[in-house]
Amino acid sequence: MEEWPAKNCTQVMPMPDPTSPRQPLTGPTSLPDGSELVLRVMPLPADVNGNGDIFGGWLMAQVDLAGAVLPSRVAKGRLATVAVNQFIFKQPVSVGDLVSFYARIVRVGNTSITVHVDVYAERNPANLQVVKVTEASLTYVAIDSQGKPRPIPKD
Ligand SMILES: CC(C)(COP(=O)(O)OP(=O)(O)OC[C@H]1O[C@@H](n2cnc3c(N)ncnc32)[C@H](O)[C@@H]1OP(=O)(O)O)[C@@H](O)C(=O)NCCC(=O)NCCS
Repeated sequence: MEEWPAKNCTQVMPMPDPTSPRQPLTGPTSLPDGSELVLRVMPLPADVNGNGDIFGGWLMAQVDLAGAVLPSRVAKGRLATVAVNQFIFKQPVSVGDLVSFYARIVRVGNTSITVHVDVYAERNPANLQVVKVTEASLTYVAIDSQGKPRPIPKD
């Protein structure tokens, strides 16, 4: 597996060999820190802001969706986002970037689960670059049918 940049660096990667069945044509499905790929998406021209970069709100919405994937497996039911603890836009995202969201659970409380999300953009396919564009921490609460917090199942 290609080593994926773990820090806020820009890395030029060799182009994958499309004839090799064992080499993924996109970035890995997990990171060395145990984070799992939970979402991969390409923004559209409709998602740009006045500068021509991707609107921060688009990225926040995707991070909220991506961050909920692992907690929903653990909570086995409805969730609500209770807090965005941290959100750092490290680099702009552009139309045509392939954006990958990697998540890992960092805390399981009584009724809440906190997740760290790292976001990488793959760009310039002719000379592939992988850029860490965002990192965030979010907390989700397991809720019952009344929208009230419920305990996270232990099993
Ligand atoms: C999520 C919600 C059900 C929680 O209800 P609540 O009565 O505030 O819940 P509690 O105070 O009992 O806290 C529940 C858990 O959330 C955690 N929590 C509450 N506020 C938090 C905050 N600001 N940051 C991190 N964790 C928080 C608590 O620590 C607790 O975790 P634990 O049980 O694991 O210890 C309620 O706040 C709600 O419905 N919020 C709106 C959710 C929503 O619409 N989200 C989408 C926004 S666009």
